[in-house]
Amino acid sequence: MNFYMTCAAGLESILKKEIELAGYVVIGSQPTLVRFKWDLSAIAKMNLRSRVGNKLYLELAQHITSDFNALFDLVKTIDWKDYIQNNPIIVTAMTKKSLLTSTPTIQSITKKSIVKKLLQGQGTRDEGQEGRIFEDQKLTPIEVLISLDNDMCTVLLNTTGESLHKRGYKKATGEAPINEALAAWLLLLSGWKFSEPLYDFFCGSGTIVIEAALLAKNVAPGMFRSFAFQKFRRYDQSLFAAELTAAKNKMMLDKQHTIIASDINPQMIKIAQENAKIAGVEKYITFATKDLVSYVDGPELIGTLVSNPPYGLRMNAYDLEKIYHTITQLFTQHPKLHGGIITSYEKFVPDEVSGTWKTSMFYNGWERCRFYKKSLMK
Ligand SMILES: C[S@@+](CC[C@H](N)C(=O)[O-])C[C@H]1O[C@@H](n2cnc3c(N)ncnc32)[C@H](O)[C@@H]1O
Repeated sequence: MNFYMTCAAGLESILKKEIELAGYVVIGSQPTLVRFKWDLSAIAKMNLRSRVGNKLYLELAQHITSDFNALFDLVKTIDWKDYIQNNPIIVTAMTKKSLLTSTPTIQSITKKSIVKKLLQGQGTRDEGQEGRIFEDQKLTPIEVLISLDNDMCTVLLNTTGESLHKRGYKKATGEAPINEALAAWLLLLSGWKFSEPLYDFFCGSGTIVIEAALLAKNVAPGMFRSFAFQKFRRYDQSLFAAELTAAKNKMMLDKQHTIIASDINPQMIKIAQENAKIAGVEKYITFATKDLVSYVDGPELIGTLVSNPPYGLRMNAYDLEKIYHTITQLFTQHPKLHGGIITSYEKFVPDEVSGTWKTSMFYNGWERCRFYKKSLMK
């Protein structure tokens, strides 16, 4: 079976590593996507465990398709009753270098073909009439993705449902929360060793420190939510139960870690604590209301900082020049502090005297951002 796992642009190599670590065979990758092979058990495992992936698609059919009749026929080869009950059906499509170029038509032909197959044998459809099915809007929508590339049509089924970055622990957020998958990626990129302290001095709703606790304690990030595949008739639910038990057995809640979160806004600290509570990691994180400035001349900081300070597009109310100057001061005053910050603030110039800086570029939604990472001087 072929699987396609999506991620934000720039995160492909870490996603590939995650898939390989889970024991699966990667067969290719391209921007925002990694493909791998395995059996149906991979659906539960990757949905539960992936920290940086967005959605996991199962390939249901693939064939060269150069006209709409061929598309209709290809989609109709699939036994949709195995996956769809009365769920609303959402068809998405992307096409590249192919004869079929109109995505709205690809979507509507696909939907017609799915409906026709679902109605087959039910005797509810008169010859010559359009078939209709009842879609219960209270149920989770099922997404079918049609990908056309050089006329090769692949029919993909979203096994995840809502993107995996929606872990389920964030009940409230602040002004510009970071995406959970991105936060996990930054932690993996930061060089944080779990034996040393992890700091976020702009913690907002707590995403980075919650992800840090989940990562260090080896808690599967999908533990707090449900997935589309749990409703598939074809899916053997004992596979999910087995993966959930395996994930629970792998948790290392007793290991000691130092994770410190602060923010200038006491309201945000309350929200972050609530979210951490839902994720079950509140007791592993020390929260405080503090201005970043107070750390500059404070006790020596040793460890990794991963922070998402305010930046231009979404948080104009702050004196950004002052904040970024303080960040530079912080790293200069604390030579044993490493890690870094994610920002789209173009005027941030890291102080090379305090260590070696490396920059990675990526997109946070539509915003072009950089992760400025400082390594310790050798
Ligand atoms: C981009 S948000 C962080 C969002 C966070 N990563 C999340 O997922 O919710 C920036 C945060 O910096 C805080 N902040 C602004 N100025 C600060 C300062 N001088 N010291 C500490 N925190 C500050 C804001 O209150 C805000 O919560």
